[in-house]
Amino acid sequence: MPRAVIVGSGSEIAPNRVTNQMLARIMETSDDWIRERSGIETRYYVEPGTATSDLGEAAARRALQMAGVAKEEVDLVVFATMTPDHYFPGSGGLLQAKLHMKPLPCFDIRQQCVGFLYGLQLVDAHIRSGLARTALLVGAEVHSGFMPFSPANWEYLYGRSEFAPTPAEWEWNTRFRHLTVLFGDAGAAVVVKAAHEDGRGILDQLLYQDGTDYDKLYVPGTGFKHRPYTDPDQFRRGDHIPVMDGRFVFKMATTRMLETAQALLARNEVRIEDLSLVLMHQANRRINEYVQKALGLPDHKVVHNIQKYGNTTAATIPLLWDECARAGRIAPGDLVLMVAFGAGMSWGATLLRA
Ligand code: ACO
Repeated sequence: MPRAVIVGSGSEIAPNRVTNQMLARIMETSDDWIRERSGIETRYYVEPGTATSDLGEAAARRALQMAGVAKEEVDLVVFATMTPDHYFPGSGGLLQAKLHMKPLPCFDIRQQCVGFLYGLQLVDAHIRSGLARTALLVGAEVHSGFMPFSPANWEYLYGRSEFAPTPAEWEWNTRFRHLTVLFGDAGAAVVVKAAHEDGRGILDQLLYQDGTDYDKLYVPGTGFKHRPYTDPDQFRRGDHIPVMDGRFVFKMATTRMLETAQALLARNEVRIEDLSLVLMHQANRRINEYVQKALGLPDHKVVHNIQKYGNTTAATIPLLWDECARAGRIAPGDLVLMVAFGAGMSWGATLLRA
């Protein structure tokens, strides 16, 4: 049976770099608070008009190039995002069109921060069953669309205008600060091919979702539970902006990531010493440090990039993979563990040999 091997990766970072100090120009926050609580120093935002599929397209082109795979070879597209270009259709088909690919199956994944791992399982199942031989898997997000800042506040944030927020705008922006400071925009992609080489490829995965506590991290408005599904009142209330119970999510993330990583390692009889690299979803550096310590992982086996990009949801793990691959930190044969937790609540882990 063929196994799914990642043969190329690429990423695209949004152009506008924003420091914590810059955010403090438009809301009550500080560099110290954000660094200490989350580990984040900067994040990047797109300009209005740049969509998730645009970031995905640029990342996918780089991934295909690194893999040496022509777009004509791709027979499956999977796109993970919680910030799609449109309510429908999904971003997978938009990516297919932007890349001028032949018509092919395109899936969209809606598991937020665990979207990339869900995508890997879908790709793996297609490859093992023979339904696909070469897949393009993308994780991309444009979170800046749910930032509560007015157009004038955006300009002031970037230092392009001298008009500071009004007291009402300052208060409004501050109301969402526990959430907004955490997120950035980015896209990342991998090319996955069917291979018969000994031991290489996706070895095992564990994926879970439990919707019981979905309302601890969700967007209350702009959904088809409402009629009409979007209206000015929802925007006035801020219902288009995610609600997050940070402490609850933090606790769940540490518990679920740890237990899932341990269960996956145990059922594959893999010891910590056998692992070359662990790529954890980048939501909060403190979450990952907790999991690292509890697993007994040495520093050189864990990579972080949350300090640069913040939380880029479905893009975090492929972005880490791409940075490591390009820096020569992943060699064929390396055993890599991926772990993620996010809205849904969903969580999972993947074990693969590069
Ligand atoms: N700047 C300054 N102060 C702030 C900010 C900010 N940006 N945000 C909140 N505060 C204040 C609060 O108002 C509160 O003040 P108070 O004590 O006077 O009431 C104080 O800081 C503490 O707030 P907490 O929310 O309790 O802070 P906590 O230590 O829990 O950190 C954080 C908040 C960073 C959000 C943390 O809870 C966290 O990272 N949670 C997990 C997030 C996550 O993993 N999300 C999942 C992935 S996202 C996805 O799936 C889409």
